[in-house]
Amino acid sequence: MKLSRRPRRIRELNAIKQMVQEFTLRKEDLILPVFISDHCNGREKIESMPEVYRWSIDSLLEQIGKWQAMGLNSFALFPCVESQKKCPYGKEALNPESVCYLAAKEIKAHFQDTILIADLALDPFTDHGHDGILDSAGKVDNDQTVDALCKSAVIAAESGFDIVAPSDMMDGRVGEIRRSLDAAGFEKIAILAYSAKFCSSYYGPFRDAISSGQKTPIDKSGYQLNPANFREAMLELELDEQEGADILMVKPAEPYLDVIKSAKENFSLPVAGYQVSGEYSRIWAASKMGWLDLDQCAMESLLCIKRAGADMILTYFAERIASKL
Ligand code: PBG
Repeated sequence: MKLSRRPRRIRELNAIKQMVQEFTLRKEDLILPVFISDHCNGREKIESMPEVYRWSIDSLLEQIGKWQAMGLNSFALFPCVESQKKCPYGKEALNPESVCYLAAKEIKAHFQDTILIADLALDPFTDHGHDGILDSAGKVDNDQTVDALCKSAVIAAESGFDIVAPSDMMDGRVGEIRRSLDAAGFEKIAILAYSAKFCSSYYGPFRDAISSGQKTPIDKSGYQLNPANFREAMLELELDEQEGADILMVKPAEPYLDVIKSAKENFSLPVAGYQVSGEYSRIWAASKMGWLDLDQCAMESLLCIKRAGADMILTYFAERIASKL
């Protein structure tokens, strides 16, 4: 054939293939979400998330050293608290002795150069499992919830967190949190905003992990985004940028690559993607059936999230993948 173009020429030799590779995954891109429990000894398995654990603070301290040695430095901490500590108002979020705040203090005392991200939300602490305080009609009350989030942001900063990450989807929370942090002298603490957080069924295993999964499936569609809405996601990203977010997040990641791409193209802030629990567990489940290759699919999923525009990725695969990079 007389072809003017033969794109395959650059696909044969490995050295050329590497030279023309457009995106690469680096350990520095990975943020590991970590569950910390105030009521377990050592570490405890999470049934629906293979190789992910709930850690006691002691056991976690040892493990952080191991993770650092493999090049993982950024951790997003999530609390799992005893059910007696849960109440309708999520008051435990404002207890400076609560497990994530204590863990941050301990980690920073031993490993100063870790990056610690505090997930700000009330759902680990509310007995109804919603991300906020309910009004008399049983709906999440926006402004009361934002008030609690602002207070918990300041406690997180006092505990040593470097970044706060509101994951609740209340209106106006980024601006209010920024003002509260600044007023308390924490103008250097960054906000990683869960800006486009969709009302996704892929959060199921996470809710098992922090035991906020109620008997009847909980409906968060009164505040999280409709998976069908792209333009509304753009509006949320725009508002968070205007309110002073430092990094914009899209969550889940792989089912929403179009949103990640547009976030990157339309805003000047760094973009984070959160490969959530269900994205993790589905790859694991298929690999346990012998249907998919675990490591290759994990790597491909993360690379594709990066290609779409994510500068950083929260992923439960961080440890597994870091050991291969
Ligand atoms: C809640 C929160 C959720 C996740 C992170 N923060 C779940 C939810 O909105 O119900 C999900 C993370 C995951 O699935 O890995 N504030």
